Amino acid sequence: MTLQGRSFLAELDFVPAEWTGLVELAASLKAEWRSERSGGRAATKHLAGQQIALVFEKTSTRTRCAFEVAARQQGAGTTYLDPSGSQLGHKESVADTARVLGRMYDGIAYRGFGQDRVEELAAHAGVPVWNGLTDEWHPTQMLADQLTMREHVPAGASSLKDVTLAYVGDARCNVGNSVLVSGALAGMDVRLVAPPSLQPTRKVVDAAQAIANTTGARLVVTSDLDAVAGADFLYTDIWVSMGEPRELWSERIDLLRPYQINQALLTRTGNPAVRVLHDLPALHDLGTEQARQLHAETGLSSFEITDDVFEAHAGIIFDQAENRMHTIKAVMVATLGR
Ligand code: CP
Repeated sequence: MTLQGRSFLAELDFVPAEWTGLVELAASLKAEWRSERSGGRAATKHLAGQQIALVFEKTSTRTRCAFEVAARQQGAGTTYLDPSGSQLGHKESVADTARVLGRMYDGIAYRGFGQDRVEELAAHAGVPVWNGLTDEWHPTQMLADQLTMREHVPAGASSLKDVTLAYVGDARCNVGNSVLVSGALAGMDVRLVAPPSLQPTRKVVDAAQAIANTTGARLVVTSDLDAVAGADFLYTDIWVSMGEPRELWSERIDLLRPYQINQALLTRTGNPAVRVLHDLPALHDLGTEQARQLHAETGLSSFEITDDVFEAHAGIIFDQAENRMHTIKAVMVATLGR
């Protein structure tokens, strides 16, 4: 597999072998990193001397830190352009920004709004561009999720092809779209469980099904919570995504309360060993200003996931967060590494 010089914009741009190859590369880079940290041989610096621009039009903790730390570990330098810290969108077009950055940097990470923006950046930069989240897709998150599931594969399963993932909640967002398509690429059994108005578009479902027809993946999109039966992993995301209006919370809570990941939903899987994933940040308690405001308005103390379930599965959820770094490193090494 060679992805040298390629951008990483959406799961649909990759064939199954390329996609699973990235997850395998991440596992191997993680093993090298672990070995070095425990006194073993220093890991090769595949990005030595390269420069990476991080263009973030939306805030981030995991994705930004993952790019910065992974780049540094691989010998590259980074420049972070925060949501208001460049001319992009105010005084300079995406295309012109791309042409400037492409003259100075070897690769560009982008987080922002429409997928068209990251595609335009890639079309004009002349260097690899990596999607750190758009309104439509969150592909670097999916690599981390799949690496995490590989590490916590249920007893008797030999690969992700033997794994059933049920994603529950707002499924018409970037994460829902990406779970469906990346699960199809990996040949998984994927169930998206969401109210009809929060399910992916027909175009996304058809594209995922076309891939599934080649990989043997089983895909279900339904509002019926019985679809969680037999799941090895339950996965959820915040109910109102970045960039969506705050006014949506009331409507989303009404729609999604039955889809909360709580003890009753875990029991409904019928799998006492079911594990829980969350891409974070999570509204599981009143530890954030946002949760406290919503609590004052609704009386609820947790939203997409209850605090007891979150804490019981915190080990795997924070493995998932750490794996953002190993998988983003794999994307940069595969597309830019020497
Ligand atoms: N999951 C995720 O993308 O986290 P950040 O928004 O903190 O980058």
